[in-house]
Amino acid sequence: MPKLVKLLILYYSQTGNTEKMARAIEEGAKSVAGVNVEVKYFARPEDLAEADGIIFGMPTYHHDMGIDMKRLLEEVAVKRINLKGKVGAAFGSYGWSGEAPRMMLEVLKNKFEMEIIEPPLLAKYNPEEKSLEECRKLGKTVAERIVKASLSS
Ligand SMILES: Cc1cc2nc3c(=O)[nH]c(=O)nc-3n(C[C@H](O)[C@H](O)[C@H](O)COP(=O)(O)O)c2cc1C
Repeated sequence: MPKLVKLLILYYSQTGNTEKMARAIEEGAKSVAGVNVEVKYFARPEDLAEADGIIFGMPTYHHDMGIDMKRLLEEVAVKRINLKGKVGAAFGSYGWSGEAPRMMLEVLKNKFEMEIIEPPLLAKYNPEEKSLEECRKLGKTVAERIVKASLSS
């Protein structure tokens, strides 16, 4: 019996656009057998430690990532929680510049040595069906990747 792998979708959303993306990613991830998919709005550093893959959702406000996410990542670093080798991806809704998901990926790659999936997935304002389809695809891709990794470990 293969072990059940864990995928965490952690997102922030002020007006619901990034949340719609998160739900579509969840749908895609849940189409893959053998993955426990959890969607969270808030997380503790320990939640990140328990996941095999983490997909971070982050809208861009004031050309930046949200303060709650920055605090969480800081806490992960302070507590020396090891994310090395875990699969990481990022997505988010934006209006005109959309830097936040890219910033997120940089931190995941350079500070935590996660295996990141590039490029980040962006949707302008309210995601259209085409964007939601890309979200479902991303969820499926990450889920399949962590299942495959668990089978070969
Ligand atoms: C006060 C404010 C600041 C914003 N700053 C940016 C920005 O710097 N760059 C950008 O691309 N979009 C910016 N936006 C647009 C949001 O990213 C966009 O509305 C997005 O859909 C919000 O996602 P959410 O519904 O998940 O919160 C801003 C919106 C507001 C209200």
